Amino acid sequence: MCKILILEGERSVLSLTSTAKLHNDVEMPRLGLGVYKMEDGKEVVEAVKSAIELGYRHIDTASFYGNEEGVGKAIKESDIPREDLFITTKVWNDEQGYENTLEAFDRSLNKLGLDYIDLYLIHWPVPGKFTDTWKALEKLYKDGKVKAIGVSNFLPHHLEELMKDAEITPMVNQIELHPELHQQQTREFCAANGIQVEAWSPLAKGKYFDAPVLKELAEKYEKTPAQIILRWDFQNDIVAIPKSTNKDRQQQNADIFDFELTEEEIKRIDELNLDEKGRTGPHPDEFDY
Ligand code: A2P
Repeated sequence: MCKILILEGERSVLSLTSTAKLHNDVEMPRLGLGVYKMEDGKEVVEAVKSAIELGYRHIDTASFYGNEEGVGKAIKESDIPREDLFITTKVWNDEQGYENTLEAFDRSLNKLGLDYIDLYLIHWPVPGKFTDTWKALEKLYKDGKVKAIGVSNFLPHHLEELMKDAEITPMVNQIELHPELHQQQTREFCAANGIQVEAWSPLAKGKYFDAPVLKELAEKYEKTPAQIILRWDFQNDIVAIPKSTNKDRQQQNADIFDFELTEEEIKRIDELNLDEKGRTGPHPDEFDY
């Protein structure tokens, strides 16, 4: 009995640390904790600490979230070696441009209390700015201050524009992505260019947890609709960063490695796709920059 429990414990820790290899060979954990809208201070510190205790090694924040200090405090107070953690942050829209981005990076690094970032992203494709912002990210990468660089909310036409002038192809594109919003063209563009796709709001905040196909599969596998969605991500090679401040739900979201959806089931989940109608956040071309 004891042995089984230990083995299961080991298995879940190992699975939570399973990684996607980026095109520069950096290993990115395939499941992370998103901290958007967590308040700086107690809320974010406790959420990040509990996730790390559960075995999460990947934390996704942004300067816009205003909680980098809390994330940094939680990292410092956990006993995990820095190199075992994967920390993402992002440059916000009004921080873009070459010099501004270099300064924004230093601010984020200071708030986090770190001496390097694992993944630094351009948060949104601010028109007229993002190519200069990218040059700053390339410099930070070449200077060894960040292990990988990427973008967020970029459509294929933004990526094309960025790559025309870039020395380094983005390693990651983090986009809103879930069964109701497939982003097929962006995913195909990323796959063709070796860019890892990462899903923000993978659970769409539970908006359609009561979809019959999710309920049916949840019952079949003795899981929850959230776990079925996260497993759909995992089997589609999408890195996901579900947000939860609640330890039980953090644990639930990490417990997706002991079952496998069939191809037929994945296709049935795919039928939930509403394309643009499934978007819960802004469209990158309509954002009020
Ligand atoms: P909470 O923080 O109280 O757990 P997303 O990452 O897709 O934006 O979803 C985040 C939202 O979904 C949060 O409101 C979070 O609330 C909730 N949530 C996260 N995990 C689960 C889960 N396993 N079941 C139900 N709700 C969840």
